[in-house]
Amino acid sequence: MNRFFLAGLCVVGSGGSFLRAAELPAYRRAELPIAARVADLLGRMTLEEKIDQLHQSGIGDTNPNNLQERRDAYLPTYGSFIIAGPPATVLATRNALQKRALEESRLGIPVLFAGDVIHGYRTILPIPLAQAGAWDTDLVRRGAALAAAEARAHGIDWTYAPMVDHSVDARWGRIAETFGESPHASSAFAVASVQGFQGSDLTRPDTVAATLKHYVGYGASEGGRDYSATWVAPQELWERHLPPFEAGVRAGARGVMSAFNDLNGIPTTANRHTLDEILRQRWGFDGVVVSDWAAVRQLIIQGYAADEAEATQRALAAGVDIDMSDNLYRAHLRALVEQGRVPMAQIDAAVARVLRLKFELGLFERPFTEENSLSGAAPNPEQLAFAEEFAARSLVLLKNDGALPVAPTARKIALLGPIANYSASLLGSWAQQGQPSETPTIADELRRRLPAGVELLLASGGGIEAGSDAEIAEAVAAAQAADIAVLVVGEEGWMSGENASRSSLRLAGRQEELALAVAATGKPVVLVLVSGRPLEIAALEPRVSAIVAAWSGGSRAAAALADVLLGRRNPSGKLAVTWPRTTGQIPLYHNMRPRARLSPSGEYRDGPSTPLYEFGHGLSYTQFSYGPIKLERPTVGLTGKLTAEVTVTNTGARDGVESVLWFIRDPAASITRPLRELKHFESAPIAAGTSRVFRFEIEPERDLSFPDADGRRILEPGEIVLHAGTEHVSFQIEAPKW
Ligand code: BGC
Repeated sequence: MNRFFLAGLCVVGSGGSFLRAAELPAYRRAELPIAARVADLLGRMTLEEKIDQLHQSGIGDTNPNNLQERRDAYLPTYGSFIIAGPPATVLATRNALQKRALEESRLGIPVLFAGDVIHGYRTILPIPLAQAGAWDTDLVRRGAALAAAEARAHGIDWTYAPMVDHSVDARWGRIAETFGESPHASSAFAVASVQGFQGSDLTRPDTVAATLKHYVGYGASEGGRDYSATWVAPQELWERHLPPFEAGVRAGARGVMSAFNDLNGIPTTANRHTLDEILRQRWGFDGVVVSDWAAVRQLIIQGYAADEAEATQRALAAGVDIDMSDNLYRAHLRALVEQGRVPMAQIDAAVARVLRLKFELGLFERPFTEENSLSGAAPNPEQLAFAEEFAARSLVLLKNDGALPVAPTARKIALLGPIANYSASLLGSWAQQGQPSETPTIADELRRRLPAGVELLLASGGGIEAGSDAEIAEAVAAAQAADIAVLVVGEEGWMSGENASRSSLRLAGRQEELALAVAATGKPVVLVLVSGRPLEIAALEPRVSAIVAAWSGGSRAAAALADVLLGRRNPSGKLAVTWPRTTGQIPLYHNMRPRARLSPSGEYRDGPSTPLYEFGHGLSYTQFSYGPIKLERPTVGLTGKLTAEVTVTNTGARDGVESVLWFIRDPAASITRPLRELKHFESAPIAAGTSRVFRFEIEPERDLSFPDADGRRILEPGEIVLHAGTEHVSFQIEAPKW
């Protein structure tokens, strides 16, 4: 018998009869509240059917770090899949699996399809670390919305993004997936991403449910080694790691993914404190918690469970609803219930949350993905234009002694380096359906823009990981023959992201040698870095004329860069992460606590202690000057409000975009505070010769309070120093007058 369930109506094929809406089981009736539909469906389910809803399989090459489970064993009762594969196949596979679920399972519960849509799906946007450097929540929101529309058009209902982990260690490859080192910025971008992905209606064909991951503390991986244990003091957890998750939950994210890491001795997959006490009870999160890939089984490797059954019991009890890919819930939950080790209520609560998400996504009414103009299609011009704008806004001009923009008088430009004519690095890790073959290289885009008569001398100088003397010599010869050299070095896409830890941030292979040899020609050299992390370039920095952090900027990274190099666009990105001089300086971040003794006490004796580039550093082709910060009043009450304003003037000859980052410092508090804490940011265009007023509406409870080690917020009277650009000013939080 073929059954297809349409909105509010059950059509029974093969000789069946049509049922009127009122005769349908309550869970099929779209007009009923979701809670009633969930309760009705749950009441009809057997234990096996419930357990299958908590199981997630992977289909297609979802993630090179994860091995596939048996491909022939997908049951129509499985609750969800992570789905990946070539764009043309994803949708068809999804609908075929869905058809099976509807036709071959007793209750016809639709399957939920998840995917890792991290920085675009078909159109690839800059990596999140780069996105953050545009300091524009609207761009992040629009980027997530664009990715959502593309992903849902391919049958993905639920994305495993945004990643909002906190990390100050660029050795950890996953720093590329973060929004940088400021908890405030990560929180703001978490909210923007959730809004962009989910929109206001999850049943629409252009929205997806969002997942905040990886909860929590994963970014504190020791030594930057992925999957390693983490030690995060409770104060640190509340100040830096939890805020973006809390912000994302409050913004309505429907999913949270528990992480891989052992957190202070209790793996996050089985951590009742973080999953139950904080996430569910304190924050009231009522969405779905999914484990990370095979993380339930990993509880055994981590030494927290003696066997699979114990791992299963502990993960579910802590609050992990869906077991991603390792099949342990399916293998053990039934016996655990029969033995009285897992209460039925725990299973019911988890299943109810999964079903609820399916109802919220409208899957019971529209289980199949209908093809639309985005399905299987290459990115359209509008999408590419957005990707280009975002890539351009994310680029950070780190150094410029005047070599950029390239002078119109240049007749020969040497375009050198292994990434000069190579697009996979531009897409970066988690490039999903981004196709290197569709992605123009920097050489393509520069060539397209150069006026007749200007020659591009192209030489790779070797590969990213290896190069020969002859290749280096060829690049040097090209530099010698040119007026200026643009040298593009950095990382393969896979060198950052998951399972991409590095013990050193130095350039791989012979790239540093290549750069030094090119610089030794005495020609002006523009160093372009394409990477998922800050790189160790201190040895090169004094020898080159200009440096651009282009990151992995996505499908249109090359066009954006070419425009910046030639002065068609004015760069405006600012670092969302501190850029160290040496790997040995890690961790080094702007919001550290003060040292006990003032400089130079305690500094390194074998080199500088300061970063190469500070958090928030980024140059422009114009100049901005900051007027004094004006405060509405010199004091603010605990429950009052205070407006701060700063006037920024574009004193140069070009239009530009300026991002104003507002920091506070609380010089004396009952729990010591960081040297600087970002509390507000805003980015806006300022035309040459004009000024713009930027405002920060300070709400003491929100902006000036801090958590204690148990997450309670403290607001204390006393001095606050406020910084913006070159300026700072002090004000007082008044003591209460009782
Ligand atoms: C990663 C997650 C990802 C999952 C599914 C894991 O290995 O840590 O970020 O969502 O795989 O691909």
